[in-house]
Amino acid sequence: MNCELNYSVKARINPIFFTAKTAICLMAKAGIPDADKIVHCLKLEDNQPLQNMADSDTILGNAIVVEAKYRTMCSLIEKSGYNICVDLPCGYTPKAIHLTEKNFRFIGLDLPIVAEEFSPIIQSLAAYPKNISFSGVDATNYESLATALRDVDKPFCITTEGMMMYFTESEVDAVISNIRKILDVHGGCWITPDPEVKLQFMLTFRSVFGEDSLGKLTATGNAAMKQSSVANLFNSFILDVENISSSIKTAENLLKLHGLKAERVNFAENMPELSIYRQLTSAQIQQFKDAMRQCHCWIITLDETRKIQENITVPEKSFAMNCTLDDGILKMTLRGRIDSISAPQILAAFETANVDAVKIDCSALEYISSAGMRLLIDIHKSCANGLVLFNVNSSVEKILSQNGFTEMEVNKWKLSNNL
Ligand SMILES: C[S@@+](CC[C@H](N)C(=O)[O-])C[C@H]1O[C@@H](n2cnc3c(N)ncnc32)[C@H](O)[C@@H]1O
Repeated sequence: MNCELNYSVKARINPIFFTAKTAICLMAKAGIPDADKIVHCLKLEDNQPLQNMADSDTILGNAIVVEAKYRTMCSLIEKSGYNICVDLPCGYTPKAIHLTEKNFRFIGLDLPIVAEEFSPIIQSLAAYPKNISFSGVDATNYESLATALRDVDKPFCITTEGMMMYFTESEVDAVISNIRKILDVHGGCWITPDPEVKLQFMLTFRSVFGEDSLGKLTATGNAAMKQSSVANLFNSFILDVENISSSIKTAENLLKLHGLKAERVNFAENMPELSIYRQLTSAQIQQFKDAMRQCHCWIITLDETRKIQENITVPEKSFAMNCTLDDGILKMTLRGRIDSISAPQILAAFETANVDAVKIDCSALEYISSAGMRLLIDIHKSCANGLVLFNVNSSVEKILSQNGFTEMEVNKWKLSNNL
């Protein structure tokens, strides 16, 4: 079966990649160097990704958050002591250009749809393109990360900006486990502002626009969830602004389970001057700088004092797919994982045939990510006699039921072990 993949298939499976287009438009609004050139190359001069934001204050508030995170992260990377930055996810930011001008090697990792689109753009804009590479990965998929990093022989700094809040509990657990394995193999540290992102948004909007603007912020959050097609922007790694100290403990405990420890470094103390200050009054700038004193980036490293139970880690099976079409019924056997890497192949196989029903043998299936679940729903809805999964093992069944599959309205959907 011809599994030709195209941009629109990948975009449907991974709508979350649009959030990176929003981010680069905001960076250009803030005046971050080279962001406008990237916007031009992506043909986003009409700022289409920003159109779901209510008004100019909402756009300004979001641009302040994005610039503050970007510049503070760049400053922490430069101070990290490493000279390789593995940016997961890299999105469409100019970080590669900035860091290679400071003698860094830059490795951008993101979903294949982003890595493939962005690589030629950055290669054409950067002064040191040889020090830059990109790979398509799924952060929940260790095999994809290990393959992307197989030639790196020195410790590095992994940076995660704007990703962890989009994950479900099982995904966030998988990503943290993968990053720990990477730190075990390569050494280095993991820097992220993500745990405190909600706090950063709240403090920024309140300090610059006053309490009244918090409604606009909620509307922005809802628009981001709609754009990325995620149910909420919350998991155990993300601090709850109503409950800061207990959620810090929750996130630290999650890291501890994976043999990691975090140092919280003050945002304000590491934040350079921002270009966007040109668009603020001096009172707003001062209030904003003061507010950022309550916010932190997390520098995460291996906790050498704690050995995690290695023997529970079972190697993942590589993805494999077998399909036969029999009288309008597409019979598939899937092995390994349904995630952002494999889902587009499965959808492309489905769409090349004239199919009334799909039956998937899941006996060798190990994991389903959100992209995988979106795919199953998409297939189920678009074929007359629906989709049936059989031989589902207990861990996949748990992921499906944790994500509301048992509550789906679909009456033809079955999770059956006895077909
Ligand atoms: C809000 S953007 C942030 C991008 C960039 N770090 C920035 O600051 O602009 C979220 C990014 O996460 C990426 N992403 C989402 N899920 C992912 C996954 N499972 N694996 C790798 N990247 C993922 C998206 O493609 C997107 O580029």
